[in-house]
Amino acid sequence: MRPFKYGCVVSGENFCPRPELEKQLREFALAGQNLVIHGPRRMGKTSLITHTIGQMKGMRLIYIDLYAIKTLSDFCSRVMKGISKATSEVSFLKKALQLAFRLRPVMAVDPDGSTSISVDTRAAEEPESLGAVMSTLEKMTQDEKSCVVFDEFQDILNLDNARGILAEMRSTIQFQENTAYFFTGSIRNAMMSIFDDMDSPFYKSALAFTVEEIEPRAFSAFIASRFAKGKRRIEDAVIQRILQFADGVSGDVQELCEALWETTEENDEITLVDFPKALELIFSRELGGYETVVERLTPSQSTVLKALAIEKTLQPYSIEFMTKVGKTASTIRRVLDKLTADRVIFQKKSAYHFSNPFFREWLARKQ
Ligand SMILES: Nc1ncnc2c1ncn2[C@@H]1O[C@H](COP(=O)(O)OP(=O)(O)O)[C@@H](O)[C@H]1O
Ligand SMILES: [Mg+2]
Repeated sequence: MRPFKYGCVVSGENFCPRPELEKQLREFALAGQNLVIHGPRRMGKTSLITHTIGQMKGMRLIYIDLYAIKTLSDFCSRVMKGISKATSEVSFLKKALQLAFRLRPVMAVDPDGSTSISVDTRAAEEPESLGAVMSTLEKMTQDEKSCVVFDEFQDILNLDNARGILAEMRSTIQFQENTAYFFTGSIRNAMMSIFDDMDSPFYKSALAFTVEEIEPRAFSAFIASRFAKGKRRIEDAVIQRILQFADGVSGDVQELCEALWETTEENDEITLVDFPKALELIFSRELGGYETVVERLTPSQSTVLKALAIEKTLQPYSIEFMTKVGKTASTIRRVLDKLTADRVIFQKKSAYHFSNPFFREWLARKQ
């Protein structure tokens, strides 16, 4: 039994309660308030929403994952999939099949044994399919109070004619006063371009809500209890070190805890001495990914990224940093922009952070 879980949505005993946020989300869902939910990757947005809304009585959760969609047909299939996962009631599914008839839907059985609705790719590529799928979604929310979640919503920008698609979505969503639509995204700039640009169809159409770190005291207690469940004890100082190393990112915290658990034995008391072995385990699991990133770097990118990995406190545009890497401010800017676009690093306030803190540590140790 593994007491820690990462890389997936967590619920039940794997979910550290976030009572304040849960309460607010429940109230917004009941009020039919649309939200734009910001927060970095692996912070816990999807888990928070599905856990909270999924537990509400009399609230139907329609969860639509738009991660990495490329075409209108992908969009339509994800919506239909979300509808079919919302319940196992046959009458509900039948209704969805009838309403979405234009998309030539068929019922399919997924590998996990659950039913889902898949749509004909060619039919779904027709421009009218967007209207068909949005009106199906609207009708499916009419008989029961519902909360529709579009997760990783910024990926809608991958589609050709994203603007036209957004405009059409907006026109059906705006009249549904009873249904709460939650749009979540991990890439702040892209989400802002959808919700905060004055000429975007979604301009000011949803209230902003941010998911930050789990409250440290609650998270520390949760971590200690999970180690206890996994038959280990852990010093509080080690938990604080874990939270600091992972910069409070929930998924990274769980990943590090899992490695510490894996590399220790039943009844052990975990201390800082156990840290290096746990990190080695993570490095060995992720090495392929690190190497791919490193191989793709140009010499300038490599120099700047390595310096960034070591110098946690230096500002990249400080004289000291520039002297260290031997690059001009404009070269550094170009490199940082590219690394940000490739999601190797991200900017928080004015500082740059590694998207993967384990990669940062590995890179810092390599030199
Ligand atoms: N409330 C929570 N309690 C404990 N761990 C969590 C919690 N929320 C998220 N996590 C951890 O973070 C990981 C990523 O969560 P997820 O909900 O997918 O984040 P996001 O949607 O923000 O990318 C999970 O696999 C889990 O390890
Ligand atoms: Mg998510």
